[in-house]
Order: sequence, then structure tokens, then C-alpha cells
Amino acid sequence: MSGWHKRVESAKLLKKRKFANEVHDTDMVQNRFFYNRNLRFTFLGTLLLFISSCASGRLDPLKPVGQNAKDIDGIMRLSAWMAIAVGLFVGAAVIAVIIKFRVRPGDDPDELPEQIHGNKKAELTWTLIPVVMLLFLAVATIPSVFDLHDKGDGPTIQVTGQQWWWQFSYDLDEDGQSDIITSNEIVIPVGQEVNLEITSNDVIHSFWIPQLNGKKDAVPGRVHHWRISSPVPGIFYGECTEFCGLSHANMQVRAVALEAADYKIWQESQLAKSSIPTGEAAKRGYDLFGVHCISCHVINGVYEGAADGNANLASGVAPNLTHLMSRTSFAGSLFELYNEDQSVNIADLREWVRNAPGQKPSRPENRQGMMSFAEILNGPELDDIVSYLQTLGGKPPLMPS
Ligand code: CUA
Repeated sequence: MSGWHKRVESAKLLKKRKFANEVHDTDMVQNRFFYNRNLRFTFLGTLLLFISSCASGRLDPLKPVGQNAKDIDGIMRLSAWMAIAVGLFVGAAVIAVIIKFRVRPGDDPDELPEQIHGNKKAELTWTLIPVVMLLFLAVATIPSVFDLHDKGDGPTIQVTGQQWWWQFSYDLDEDGQSDIITSNEIVIPVGQEVNLEITSNDVIHSFWIPQLNGKKDAVPGRVHHWRISSPVPGIFYGECTEFCGLSHANMQVRAVALEAADYKIWQESQLAKSSIPTGEAAKRGYDLFGVHCISCHVINGVYEGAADGNANLASGVAPNLTHLMSRTSFAGSLFELYNEDQSVNIADLREWVRNAPGQKPSRPENRQGMMSFAEILNGPELDDIVSYLQTLGGKPPLMPS
């Protein structure tokens, strides 16, 4: 035997030995697996805990209420069940193949199973089955995609994304002028498909109230049409879902669905203009507001910006506060405006007026978020402004439960 042949033979022998060792090693591998079981359970437990924390209850796409959200939920469930079926089938097939074709002690390790590369029947089968499944999903999905963009029978509301809160404008007489401008909470009538015209005043945001409909981007310079509806009265929670800067995570939203009669009452109350308060503290707060706040905030009837003869007076990047107290939350729905006993949440409101950037990351120097008044207003002045704010508008039609 030549030297070359010897080398080849010994290499083959080495490979066989190594293989045999590996086969015998399986016991050890199993043992390691067994000893690591605690580790595995810890890992799985943590994962489960993590997943369960996703269901906060407030933002729950798995509990759709509006018809649009239900349509989306139906498609999601259909595709999820199809994916689960495929996953189970493939998983079972892999396990079956592993067991059936495993190398047993004594098998020739050089022997390969029958190769079926280029088998037309097999290739066609595993191409056609997914094609048919995807076609089936498409047929189920496409009508809903178009349906979601149809115009509904309800009122039209302009939705504007701002850094970092949502503004809602109602043009009731359709003369091109907004009659009601509110923020953080979009009030809608029960049982009607409300038409949204979504845009943005700065960067791209995304409007999402999962229980009422899917997500829709708010893009500056564009108007996206969308619909929401609720068959029952209630408050539904949402979030901005497009990264839009520092306080993206603090840009929340609520939809308040009211019965037709309550919706009408709400609308009429929102049309009322504000007037100069009579209480002493509130009057002082009103005066302070006129010095420090009106370059950003509008209050219809008293501090209207353009109506005061200065079109640049109000920046257009801060909420209209005419009916502040008729909302359940403030600062991009980050804070509750009322405590559980329905008294006003004065502590948070006062701290917000005092030092907003301390409560919510922002860049006020770049017109992104409210500036701090910590160095400008003293304690009694803050109290006066908070007294004034409490005179703005009536109670909310619905309170969070
Ligand atoms: Cu707005 Cu994220």
C-alpha cells in the first residue's frame, strides 16, 4: 500500500471512530439537556411573562369593538390559524423524518439516503400548496383593504398629528373652517362610520386605536382617509405607532364614543366660546395666561390669536384649551385630568404647567413640546393659572372606568 493510500485509509478510520463516538455521545447530550431543564423552564417562564405583559387591556387589538377592527381581526385570525397549521405540519414532518431516517449504531455512515433533487412532482407540490394558500388569503383580504377606505355614513373629522399629541377638528357646516378644535380625545357618535382625514403638522405619525381600526400614517402634506366606528358608547385607547421623535411613546390618544343624543349635546357645548372668569384667583390666572401662554395656546372667545389682530399670535403647535376640562386627559393623554373620585387632578396639572419638559421629554426650543415655566412663574402664580384652567369647559361626557 502506497503512502498516499495509507493516509486515505487512516483518515477514513479516523472519521468512522469519530462518528462512533458521536453516536455514543448522544446519552451525554441527553444528560446535559436534562440537567439544563431548570434553565429551560426559567427561560420559557420569562418568555411567557413577557408575552402576557403585552396584554395591558387598554391597547388590545385582540378585543375588537368597531366593525373595521373586527374585519382586521378576522383576517388576522384566519392567517394565524393557517400559519399554525403549516407550522404544525412542517414541525411534525421534520420530527417524523428525523426519527425514521436517523443513523442507528452499525449503520454505514457513508451511505446516503436516496437523493430526490430535481423531483418534479415534489417541487410542484411544495410550490403549488403555498400558492393556493396565499391566493386564498388574498381573496379574503383584498375586499377588506378596499372596504376600509370607503367613505362612511358618519361625520368627517380632521385628524392632525403634532409633536406629541393629536388634534381633532370638526367642520360642522362644511364651510372649510373648523368649528370645533379639540385634542387628545376624538369624540364620535355611536353606530356611525366616522370619516377621518388624517394629516400631520410636522413629522410622520401613525394613528392607531386598535379596538376601532388598524393603523394609518399621518404624513405632512398629505391627507389619508380612514374610518372608525363603535357600536357601543365608551372610551377606547390608542397610541402613535410611527417613531416621531423624543416623546413618541408619550403620544397617546382616546376615542370617546357617545350615543347620538349625548354626541349632539357635546357638540353644542363645544361651540360655546369662553369668557373672562369671575373668581378672583381665576381672573388673576386669566391675566397671567394672557402674558405667558397665548403665543401658543388659543382659547376661543378670549385669546384667539388672529382675532386679536395678530395672525402669528398662536403658534398652531399647541392644543386649543377652550374646553380643556371636558377632556379626561392632558399632555398627549399622558396624564388623567381627573382623579378616581372625579375631582380635578390638580397635582399633575400644576406640575405640568410648572415644568412640562420634566414630565414629558421634549425640545421646546425647537417648538417640540411645551416650555418650562419653573424659572418664570412662582407658586401662587401657578396656582392662579391652574384655577383659571379649571374654568375652561364643562365636565367630560364619559369618565374612564
Ligand atoms: Cu407621533 Cu410617534
